[in-house]
Amino acid sequence: MITTCTRKTLAAWLMAALGSTLGYAQTTIPLETRSTALVLQADDKKNLRIVYYGEKLADAGSYAQVPQAYRQTDDYSGVLASAYTPAGSRNLAEPAITVVHADGNTSLDLRYITHTRQEVTPQVALYTVTLQDPVYPFTVKLFYKVYSQEDVIEQWSEISHQEKGPVVLNKFASANLHLKAPEFWLTQYHGDWAKEMQPETSRITHGIKTLDSKLGTRANLFQPSVFMVSPGKPATEDEGTVLYGAMEWSGNFRIDLELDYQDNLRIVAGMNNFASAYTLKPKETFATPAFVFLLSHHGKGEASRKLHTWARNYKLLDGHGTRLTLLNNWEATYFDFNEQKLFGLLKDTKRLGVDLFLLDDGWFANKYPRNGDTAGLGDWEVNRTKLPNGVSSLVKEAANNDVKFGIWIEPEMVNPKSELYEKHPDWVIRQPAREEHYFRNQLVLDLSNPAVQQFVFQVVDKLFTENPSLAYIKWDCNAVVYNAYSAHLRNQSHLYIEYVRGLYNVLAKIRQKYPKVPMMLCSGGGGRVDYAALQYFTEFWPSDNTDPLERIFMQWEYSYFYPALATSNHVTAWGKQPLKFKVDVAMMGKLGFDIVVDELEAQELAFCQQALRHYNDVKQVIWQGDQYRLADPRQGSFASLVYVDPARATGVMFNYLVNNRYGEGTPYPVKLKGLDPAARYTVREINLLPGTSSPLRSDAVYSGDFLMKVGINPQLSTSRTSVVLQLSKVTP
Ligand code: GLA
Repeated sequence: MITTCTRKTLAAWLMAALGSTLGYAQTTIPLETRSTALVLQADDKKNLRIVYYGEKLADAGSYAQVPQAYRQTDDYSGVLASAYTPAGSRNLAEPAITVVHADGNTSLDLRYITHTRQEVTPQVALYTVTLQDPVYPFTVKLFYKVYSQEDVIEQWSEISHQEKGPVVLNKFASANLHLKAPEFWLTQYHGDWAKEMQPETSRITHGIKTLDSKLGTRANLFQPSVFMVSPGKPATEDEGTVLYGAMEWSGNFRIDLELDYQDNLRIVAGMNNFASAYTLKPKETFATPAFVFLLSHHGKGEASRKLHTWARNYKLLDGHGTRLTLLNNWEATYFDFNEQKLFGLLKDTKRLGVDLFLLDDGWFANKYPRNGDTAGLGDWEVNRTKLPNGVSSLVKEAANNDVKFGIWIEPEMVNPKSELYEKHPDWVIRQPAREEHYFRNQLVLDLSNPAVQQFVFQVVDKLFTENPSLAYIKWDCNAVVYNAYSAHLRNQSHLYIEYVRGLYNVLAKIRQKYPKVPMMLCSGGGGRVDYAALQYFTEFWPSDNTDPLERIFMQWEYSYFYPALATSNHVTAWGKQPLKFKVDVAMMGKLGFDIVVDELEAQELAFCQQALRHYNDVKQVIWQGDQYRLADPRQGSFASLVYVDPARATGVMFNYLVNNRYGEGTPYPVKLKGLDPAARYTVREINLLPGTSSPLRSDAVYSGDFLMKVGINPQLSTSRTSVVLQLSKVTP
């Protein structure tokens, strides 16, 4: 005889079984963009999985069927696709989160509770999925911000609990993705000073590949936190599927790519948990930074154009604003200048025709004057010997010359030979009992300390208060963190995280008071660039290496992830190429100069002045247009790319010879992309050296169809190593 209780249990079981067969007990959450869908599904036991990340389906109702298309080889399969993999219960794969509960227990299980969708704008939706441990009062909220038009998703999490005491978080990822394919290809980057963004593509083998940084500050110096993954085969410029990923975090990061025995690829991305176990008190919330990603089914080119559009629309500070061309004095003078010399450079700024003069390192400190990189950093008082009348006299003189004025700072750092260090040794990150170890003769200030945050804010605030017309800041960061120890923090393992949070506090405060003043994000070159920092900066410095031949390759790689608008390129003495080549390369972004204008021959100066006029004509297309890569310098003897404005009415095509061997050049036309096939365009060579003429006919008119199918030959050769072409639609 069946008892009431047993009858109830049986009915519940029957309902559950029927429900799961019919899909009732499941909750399917499709996160759809214009062309893709990331689909989460809570199964009948409320385990949340990623069941699909691919092309959007015509019928959103079909996503629930996706799991049926896959062979479930064992009971463990579902665990492998977890949307936020916990450790210490059923899962044995690389986790997204590991904890020690208040009672010392190390197990965590996370089950789906609920989800919401909030419309931020008609194009942007924020999904929040709440997960909870069935045994402990421990909650994780997953956030997915979905940017429909650009196919971009930002993911982060919030961790909280109501346990009886603090919980220790040993790992705390921002995002956890899951892909399934017969094979995967990873493009990653490595670098060093003057050698940033060196790409490497390899097949992902079984096991775990970790991309990470433990440098604290200048975190991307050796390994940037951007990457691409192609399922199946490596995507090309215009074909194949590719996932772009990037951590929005300016400190230690860790990205694990684990390929398991069933060919599941799990990507777990977040802050690095290295030396960073985080103690979370009851009712406090631990928010992770965002991981941004997108999927394209039409190659790397489309993916980068989408990311650029997203960056300009939503992330980069003043993404639709203008930028200033400039003359920087770093390589022209290094630390050796005085007021008279700078007055001369201000005149040169005007003569050259750029918008702004940027005074670099060396203008500050008195007790230990900043006459080299061994002393004075931290003492932000103007150096009275070099500049007896202060910065304000320079700002005034800039105005007299009708140019703007900007200044270099490195406020997060200190030379041990400085008054700041003498006064506040407790503000410096250093192990009190150990020998100090320096990077570029300097140490890092402890930004986890609010007093230090206030100091750094005041460095900037004082400059602006004393010089309201100050128009630009170059913010540098030259050292990594050695001997990590904070005199301020009780819990040392919070330092790496609290440092970055402190930095963002300062930057947010600066932006509250000075919302749009352009600031360049520099880190001894490109040691720190990511989309969290770029919320506060209008541009970044990709590398101190300004050799234009090197820059073609470096800018090419950066351009996969960052728009030209954000990329500062300067014409300098680096490299053996002619001045024209240097200017042409620097134009592919935000153009600047760091040269001794006085040493230019009359013809060279005239060329630069004319190039700046051309730049002012075409910069809007470079900054706001779509970028199409046409010929990859790694695959041949030349590089070509074109920027086309969204209306497809104008374009600028850049071509460079990267191999100077006998007979090299462009033996065949280069096919353009992104034009309107039905429109007709003129193609005019610009940036010609005075007294030279173009072998290309400027009166010819071509259809967009012709330019994209047949192409145009820029006629590069060893005596014509760089060519810039302006395309203009002919109005009938
Ligand atoms: C770093 C920057 C350079 C320059 C120097 C000044 O190396 O990358 O551009 O500003 O500092 O010391």
